[in-house]
Amino acid sequence: MLILPRVIGHRGAAAHAPENTLASFAKAADLGCAMVEFDVRLTADGVPVVFHDDTLDRCVGVHGAVGCLSLSRLRTVAPQVPTLAEVLELCAVRGLAVDMEIKPDRGMGAATAAAAIRVARDCGQAAPLLSSFDADALAVSRALAPDWPRALLVERVPADWARRVAALGCCALGAHHRALPTPLVGQLRAAGLAVLAFTVNRPGRARRLWTRGVDAVFCDAPDRLL
Ligand code: G3P
Ligand code: MG
Repeated sequence: MLILPRVIGHRGAAAHAPENTLASFAKAADLGCAMVEFDVRLTADGVPVVFHDDTLDRCVGVHGAVGCLSLSRLRTVAPQVPTLAEVLELCAVRGLAVDMEIKPDRGMGAATAAAAIRVARDCGQAAPLLSSFDADALAVSRALAPDWPRALLVERVPADWARRVAALGCCALGAHHRALPTPLVGQLRAAGLAVLAFTVNRPGRARRLWTRGVDAVFCDAPDRLL
């Protein structure tokens, strides 16, 4: 079974620094995180950058879709948005394991995963965890990096979870923390899956999930749980 640290810094340490920025990943390392999660999407010219939303409104305060801007234009309007290469370089320097969540625009799952894998290889990543809600992204990940672990992400665990993880060759499943009752966690683990829960910021909640057998929780404030 995939071995994971019990706490994964969500978008770095999103409670302490702007999410998915180099400052956030450095903060997660400062707080003692062993692993961080971040979201990967493509610019208009196909460069993988680390950013959660499809538009810049919430995090940057300007209108515009990341997928409609070239990297150079994105740099002008949102200089704090890092490329995937920049994030992976920082993670390597700080010794952080990574969970690259492929967060594609609609219809871009395959292209986003392929570009992310190319950059990760160029950066010397051995076998990062690749995760996604997008089946196309996971299918392409399996084809291009069959030895890298994959996690299927879902809000609610579907009744046909076993078929879906098998079809995508996933060794882990990540779900909303309220969608992981004890019997289900037992079934998932009995099937050999590592179980991840998002997003858990309260220590009591994290303890209950770990007691159920959840392997790892994503947390915006890792210092509260570590
Ligand atoms: O990868 C776990 C979690 O990050 C998935 O949800 O919306 O925070 O990317 P979201
Ligand atoms: Mg994410």
